[in-house]
Amino acid sequence: MATAKLDMEKLVSLCRRRGFIFQSSEIYGGINGFWDYGPLGVELKKNIKDAWWQDMVRNPPPGPDGQEIDMVGLDCSIIMNPKVWEASGHVGGFSDPMVDCKACKARFRADQLQCIEVQVDSFEPAGESKWFYFSGIGTAQDVRDKNQKAMEKVAKGRKSDDPALVTQRDYTQILPASRPKVPCPECGQVGQLTEPRAFNLMFQTYVGAIQSDENVAYLRPETAQGIFANFANVLASSRVKLPFGIAQVGKAFRNEINPRNYTFRSREFEQMEIEFFCKPADSMKWYEYWRDLRKKWYSTLGIKSDNLKPREQGKEELAHYSIGTTDIEYMFPFSEEPQELEGVAHRGAFDLTAHMTKSGKDLTYFDEDAWNRDAGTRTTNSFKEWLKTKPPKEEVEKYQYVPHVIEPSAGADRFTLAVLCEAYHEDKQPDAKGNLEERLVMRFHPRLAPVKAAILPLVKKDGMPEKAEALYRELKKHFKVEYDDAGAVGRRYRRQDEIGTPFCITIDGDTLKDDTVTIRDRDTLQQRRVPIGGVLEEIRKALS
Ligand code: GAP
Repeated sequence: MATAKLDMEKLVSLCRRRGFIFQSSEIYGGINGFWDYGPLGVELKKNIKDAWWQDMVRNPPPGPDGQEIDMVGLDCSIIMNPKVWEASGHVGGFSDPMVDCKACKARFRADQLQCIEVQVDSFEPAGESKWFYFSGIGTAQDVRDKNQKAMEKVAKGRKSDDPALVTQRDYTQILPASRPKVPCPECGQVGQLTEPRAFNLMFQTYVGAIQSDENVAYLRPETAQGIFANFANVLASSRVKLPFGIAQVGKAFRNEINPRNYTFRSREFEQMEIEFFCKPADSMKWYEYWRDLRKKWYSTLGIKSDNLKPREQGKEELAHYSIGTTDIEYMFPFSEEPQELEGVAHRGAFDLTAHMTKSGKDLTYFDEDAWNRDAGTRTTNSFKEWLKTKPPKEEVEKYQYVPHVIEPSAGADRFTLAVLCEAYHEDKQPDAKGNLEERLVMRFHPRLAPVKAAILPLVKKDGMPEKAEALYRELKKHFKVEYDDAGAVGRRYRRQDEIGTPFCITIDGDTLKDDTVTIRDRDTLQQRRVPIGGVLEEIRKALS
C-alpha cells in the first residue's frame, strides 16, 4: 500500500515548498490547530468543494427507485442564536473528558491517555502485592514500547515467582483511587493528574459591545444545525417535496484539545454536509443509498478502494438518537488504523424534534401528495377539519410527520489531506541525456488537480512565445493553467509533475508549420501531437 509508507514529513515539506499548505501565522511562530492554504492548496480545496457541490447538489445520481432527487443549497451564518446550540445539545453536551497535569500544564483527552498497570507479588504473602503505573499518548503498542524497559525493571524486582500482571486501559477506566499513581505522560511526575473534567469544544464569543452572559454566542461547531434551523424556510420558499436534501459547505470551529496529524484534526475546518429529509418508513433505504454513494464518490476521484474503509459503527458507539452510522475511513499514512473522512448518519427525527420543542415552531411536514391520493376515503378535503374528527395518531402520521434525516457529513480539509497523501509518488524517470533521475509526482485526479495544464514554448523566440501566449489566453478562460518558459523543458516538466499538473502542452518548431502541439500526459509520460484548436476539447474530456 503506497500511502502507508508515505513519510508525512516529505508531504508536509512539499506542501510548504510548493504553496499547498502553510502553518497559520507562521511568522509569529504559528498557532496550534490552524492552517492556511497557499495558492495551489486553495485551488485544490476549491476543486474538491466544487466537485462535491456538482456531484451531490447540482447533479446527484437518481435515487434508489431511479427517480431524480431534489437537492438545494444553503449558506448560513457562522454565529447563530445560542438557543440553536442548546436545542442541539452542544451547549452542555459537546465536550470531551480532559485531564490536566498540575505540574507541567499539559492537557490530555482522558480516553486517549493510555495507562499500564503492572501488578507484582500479587498472591503470596497475601496483602503484599504492589502496583506500578505507566502512561503515554498514542497507540496501545506505542505506549507499551515506550515503557517496556521500565515495566521489565519492576517485574524483575518482584519477590515471589508469580508472573507480573500487566493490564492496559485508558485513564477513564482506572479506578479513581489509583489515578494519583499514574505519571503524567509529558513530564513524568506522579500525583499531578486531575480527575477527568468536561471541556466544551465550542469557541465562545460575545455579540455586541458588552461582554456579559446574555451576549454569549458560539462559533458553529458544525454546519448541520444551520440547515435544521432553516428547514421550514427552505420548505416554504422552494418547491421541494420529500424526499429532498439541503446541502451546505462552510467553516466549522472546534476547540480541539489535541490538534494533530497535520490538518487532520484542526480547530478551524470546513465541512460539506447534507441533511437529507425523508419519510420515516423510507429512511433505511435512503441511509443505504447515501452510504454507498458517498463511498463510491471518493473512488471516482482517485482514492484507491484498498485505502477506503467504510465502518458501520457498533451499537455502543452510536449517538443516542442515531439508528445507524457508517464512518467512511481512510488509511492515512500517519496511523495504523483507518481514520474518519466522513460520517453517514441516520439521525431519525432527533434534530427537527429538538428544534421544534425549543423554538415552539412547527417543523412537521405535510405530505400533500399522500393526502390527495387518499381523497376518496374521506368526507372532507380540509386537513384541519379532518383533524377535528380525532383520527388515530397513526392515520394522522400518514400525512403529517417529522421527517427522518440521513446526514452525510464530510470534511473538506480531511479529504484534501487524503487526496494529497494518495497523490504523492516518487519514481525515477530519464532526464534529457537518458540518465535516470528521481521524480516527485503528485498524481491528482484531473478534476482535482490545482493546475490543469501548463503551456510551454520550447524556446523564447522564433514566434513560439506568441503562439503559446495565444493558447494560454484561450485556455485560462476555462481552467486554471500556467505559462512557463523558464529553463530546459525537462525541468519544466518536473516542476509541473511536482504540483500534479496532468497535461503539459509544448509549442515547438512544428507548431509554427502545421499548428499542432504536443500534449504530455503526467502519468503515462506519453506525448501526442494534436491540432492546437483541439487542446481545449482534449482537456475537457479528461475533466469530465
Ligand atoms: N454534523 C455531524 C458532524 O459534524 P462529525 O463526525 O463531528 O459530524 C463530520 O464531523 C466531519 O467533519 C468528519 O468526518 C471530519 O471529516 C470533519 N471534522 C470533524 N472534526 C474535525 C476537525 N477537528 N478537523 C478537521 N475535520 C474535522
